Amino acid sequence: MILVTGGAGFIGSNFVCAWVHAGKEPLCVLDALTYAGNLENLQSISAPSALTARWRFEKLDLRDREAVEGLVLALKPRAIVHFAAESHVDRSIHGPGDFIQTNVVGTFHLLEAARNHWVTLQGADRENFRFLHVSTDEVYGSLGQHDPAFHESTPYAPNSPYSASKAASDHLVRAWHHTYGMPTLTTNCSNNYGPYQFPEKLIPLMISHALEGKALPVYGDGQNVRDWLHVQDHCDAIMRVLQAGRVGEVYNIGGNAEMKNLDVVHTLCAVLDRLKPKAQGSYTDQIQFVRDRPGHDRRYAIDARKIRDELQWSPSYNFEQGLEQTIIWYLNHSDWVDRVKSGAYRDWIDTHYQQSSHSIKPTP
Ligand code: NAD
Ligand code: TYD
Repeated sequence: MILVTGGAGFIGSNFVCAWVHAGKEPLCVLDALTYAGNLENLQSISAPSALTARWRFEKLDLRDREAVEGLVLALKPRAIVHFAAESHVDRSIHGPGDFIQTNVVGTFHLLEAARNHWVTLQGADRENFRFLHVSTDEVYGSLGQHDPAFHESTPYAPNSPYSASKAASDHLVRAWHHTYGMPTLTTNCSNNYGPYQFPEKLIPLMISHALEGKALPVYGDGQNVRDWLHVQDHCDAIMRVLQAGRVGEVYNIGGNAEMKNLDVVHTLCAVLDRLKPKAQGSYTDQIQFVRDRPGHDRRYAIDARKIRDELQWSPSYNFEQGLEQTIIWYLNHSDWVDRVKSGAYRDWIDTHYQQSSHSIKPTP
């Protein structure tokens, strides 16, 4: 079987469902079920059916070294796909400690557990073992408007506590390959969007606020650029790297969809105006410019030629179609959104957005 950490989170749950539906190897999800983890995300493989026998769940915290080691040695997985992380930049600014503990120390625990398991393997089992580390393009830092996109050889220059903790974990994975010969793979991907994304990230937060009639908080001047990739495309890319990636290598994954934040929000409002028109006016009327994120990276862009040329992967969604499909998903899953917005979520929104709600003048 394979072990998937963080399989109850946004990308992890999309990956687990796709894997189980595809009838691949049995799978075990390891997840601590933090505020971002939700077993409901795995509903499509949880209803009584033949699928339930194809996977199991272990509630476990990567910060607990002994428990991680115990699980890995007991499961003897053929591969480990490591999604689990604290993943929200704004939260890392408010409280970096959890990011160091989970993303850095937790990854160290997992690597050691994997190594202790891997050294016991022989022959084909040893040959076939893989440790796939899921990471982010944010480790490369911020690009200027005309800089070339991030390449696998771009020097690391993380700027937020989140990206620094992910960079540290990438370095650990690299070292475990270089020093111990562990068969690792690392992927660095751009911003994901799609079903089951926790409504603290830009796209689901904007959908949710728009529908509730709340302000749509655009940081700074809204001109920061991100590359957007549909989560299903990301999951396909990870499966491809797991299957055919060269051991020890890094693969950048991107959507060929660079967008300014303000354009993303305008596109999203236009889709909502069409699908769920307001009694009066447009959702764009709710856009509010708020104080910028400290250290806000200006631009991310991905050069994904390596995965395209070596592994014949390229994204299948275009951003406008993917965004519309995502908005429809959120419109049809308002019960899911309501449930994940627990008291803890409301506290986060109050703390974060009140602190940054010094409105600046909307640009004309
Ligand atoms: P997420 O926050 O939605 O989910 C993270 C999951 O990890 C949750 O289920 C949570 O319960 C679990 N988790 C957190 N701390 C844990 C711990 N100590 N022990 C065990 N489980 C723990 O994150 P996501 O957006 O799905 O991102 C998944 C991975 O992909 C992360 O490693 C992230 O850095 C990376 N990534 C994300 C994006 C993106 O746009 N979301 C882009 C590129 C890479
Ligand atoms: P986010 O979804 O937090 O992803 P990341 O910071 O990892 O790229 O944010 C995407 C972009 O949207 C980023 O430039 C910050 C911006 N943003 C806003 O303008 N307003 C918001 O309320 C949020 C959450 C993000």
